[in-house]
This record gives sequence, C-alpha cells and structure tokens, in this order.
Amino acid sequence: MTGNRKVRFGIIGSAGLIGNYHADILTKGEGPYELTAVCDINELRLRNQAEKLGIFGTTQVSELVARDDVDAIIVATPHPFHAAGVIAVVEAGKDVMTEKPLAATPADARRLIKAINRKRRIGAVHYQSRANPVARKARQMIDSGELGKIISIRVTGSYYKSDYYYSLGGWRGMWRDEGGGVLINQAPHDIDMMCYLAAESAPAELAGRWTNLYHDASQVEDFASAIGVFPNGVQFTLNVSVATHGDARRFEVFGTAGAITIQDGKFTRYVRFEKDLVDFAHTYEGPDPYAGPVVQDQPLPEVGENDPSLIHKMFAEAVLTRKKAKMLVSAADGLWSQETINAIYLSSYLGKKVKLPVSAARYEKMLADLIANARPVSRPQRESEEGRIAR
Ligand SMILES: NC(=O)c1ccc[n+]([C@@H]2O[C@H](COP(=O)([O-])OP(=O)(O)OC[C@H]3O[C@@H](n4cnc5c(N)ncnc54)[C@H](O)[C@@H]3O)[C@@H](O)[C@H]2O)c1
Repeated sequence: MTGNRKVRFGIIGSAGLIGNYHADILTKGEGPYELTAVCDINELRLRNQAEKLGIFGTTQVSELVARDDVDAIIVATPHPFHAAGVIAVVEAGKDVMTEKPLAATPADARRLIKAINRKRRIGAVHYQSRANPVARKARQMIDSGELGKIISIRVTGSYYKSDYYYSLGGWRGMWRDEGGGVLINQAPHDIDMMCYLAAESAPAELAGRWTNLYHDASQVEDFASAIGVFPNGVQFTLNVSVATHGDARRFEVFGTAGAITIQDGKFTRYVRFEKDLVDFAHTYEGPDPYAGPVVQDQPLPEVGENDPSLIHKMFAEAVLTRKKAKMLVSAADGLWSQETINAIYLSSYLGKKVKLPVSAARYEKMLADLIANARPVSRPQRESEEGRIAR
C-alpha cells in the first residue's frame, strides 16, 4: 500500500507531441503522481508550457535531474537521445520511464539498461498498447493453454504517412536523426506486442527486408517485413508499412487448440478446434484427404475498458514500493522489440538471416554507412506548432 504518497514527475522533451501527452496524463489523470517540472530545448515552447501548467521549466537536463522536488522522469525526446536522457536521470539517482523505442541502436539500448541496473533504479518504457486489457487477456489465454501449444503469430501494421508528414518533423525519416523509419517509429508498439504474445522475449533468429517504396521526403524505409522464430519455437511473420493504406493493425495467434485475432486493439475472432491439430494429424485415418478438425466459433472474450494511464499508475506504484514487478512494461522488456527491430535492419542490410542479439559494433558500422550514403531529401523545415504532429 502506498497511502496518499505521490511520485513527483519531471519530463525531458516535455514540449513535443508525446511530452504534452504525458503532461496531460500527469496533471489531469487520477493516479499516485503529480507533475512538478518540465524540460525542453525548445525554449519558446518550454516557457509557454511551464507558464500554462504553473510549474518549473528549464532547457537544461542537468538542472531538471538535480531537483529535489522530482522523484522520477519521463524521457520523451527523439529516440537517438533516449540513452543520454535515461543515463542522466539514473546517474542523478532518479527513476525513469522512457518513450518507445528504448533507443535507436542496440549499443544505446543495452547501455541504458546497464545504467538503470547499475544505479538500481526503477526503469520502464512507455508501450501503452500493453495497458489495453485485450493484450493481457490474450496473454492469459495463451498461458492457460486455452489455445493449445502456440505455433505461429502473424502481425500486420499499416500506418500510412504522406511526404508532408516527413517534411514537418526535422528528425523524422532521417538515418542520422532518427535511425530508421517505420520499423523504429510506427511499428515498435506492434513489435513489442508480438514479442509479448509469442514468447515474452526477442526472437532467436530472423530474416528481414526493408525498402523505401515511394516516400521522397524520407531517407528511411517505408515498408518492412520479417520472418523468424522465437526461442520457444513460435514462428512469426511481420509486415509493417507507412506506404500501404486501408489495412489494420492485426495480430493473429495460432495454437494447436484454437486461434485468436486482435484487430485495432479489439478481439475480432476466437475459434477453437474440435480436436487438437497435432492429435488430429496423427490419428485421422480418412477418407477425406483434406480433412481437418471442425472449427468452432467462440464468443469473443470480454474485457474491461482501456486505461492508457495504467502504465503511469503502475510505474508510480513501482517507484513508491520499489517493486519492479508492479511495472506494466519494464525497460528490460523494452529490449525484446528493440533487438527485433535492430536485427531486421541488419538482416536486410547484410542480405542474410541473423541470430539475436546482433553485434552492436556491426550495427554501428551499418548505421554509419546508411548515414554516409543517405540520399538527399527535399524537406522544408517548419519549426512551428504544426511541427508537433502525430507519430
Ligand atoms: N508512445 C507513443 O505512442 C509515442 C507517440 C509519439 C512519439 N513517441 C516517441 O516519443 C519520442 C518523441 O516523439 P515526438 O513525436 O513527441 O517528437 P517531437 O519532435 O514532437 O518532440 C520531441 C521534443 O523533444 C525536445 N528535445 C529534443 N532533444 C532534447 C533534449 N536533448 N533535451 C530536452 N528536450 C529535447 C524537442 O524540442 C521536442 O519538443 C520519440 O522517441 C517517439 O518514438 C511515442
């Protein structure tokens, strides 16, 4: 029990799109938290925000992390800066929740996890899709054996973006400033969910492919796919894109006793098989060469309302009680998707299957090459309020 105690939060990158979202949750939501200080390098937006909220604001990370009225800090800067932010926070003895993805590169991601552990801080990552009760219900169904042994998971994510989107955000769509495209920006929530449902780990090996089909204002990939296998034998196929449209975000989990589909955050299909697929395969004696066990539609599982602030509440409980288990998604769990994303980049670049985790040094070499050889893109810089656009 934490009584009436509240965690006093600060935010780094507070005046950006997601920084404002966190500020809203921490000031308007009901939870064991309050917002006491904000920090952003954009001085104009920072001053406006601090004034509006009536709290302390600074452009200096060092000043924020040193404050006595701040217990925990959310890092909401672009991903290549997550590691530096997280390390500054934990070195100052505070707990930290970073935005997704953990970082842009494996070296940064592993470095920030090491720092959290070395300083014995509570570290979380903001994968708020996991606050959706559908995710936890699906995981429960898998754990209880309701779907039998899980054979495979198929994931599709479509998040169409125009060239205008890339022309707005200075760092988006650039190898140097973002470290990738759809895989590292739009798809991490779905890749995290895939790892969570398939195995609660990163895959063991995969083969990836990415390309830029037609986004002229972006240097990075707008389409990516991968196939691979998790350490528990679950096979996966993944297809994510900002180039296709009219599709959904979909997870299809196939077990030997049943299957579920989650589409746009809701259960849309649940079936069970009259007989386990493996038993049927080994015992059916004909005469129909195409026979399979009868597929029985089931009522869709019922779940409660989605509370996106659950992730903040559970992180705050973990901070107050010093119990990491209270967190919904720990920073260490953020490595599952991070290692997957980085392995897909490297696999496609090398043109071969890779085992995970990939070499951090080899990854740095690849990224340096991609940055050095990135094609010039035409993108008018629009440094204005409209620059704060959706991911
Ligand atoms: N969880 C989600 O659904 C979600 C949604 C959007 C963005 N994100 C993640 O949040 C991060 C930020 O994305 P965004 O869309 O808010 O970007 P943004 O450009 O709108 O905001 C980033 C903010 O960080 C500030 N900043 C940059 N470097 C800084 C530094 N060193 N110190 C202090 N402030 C600094 C910028 O001035 C800007 O205000 C990204 O990693 C992105 O992937 C997550």
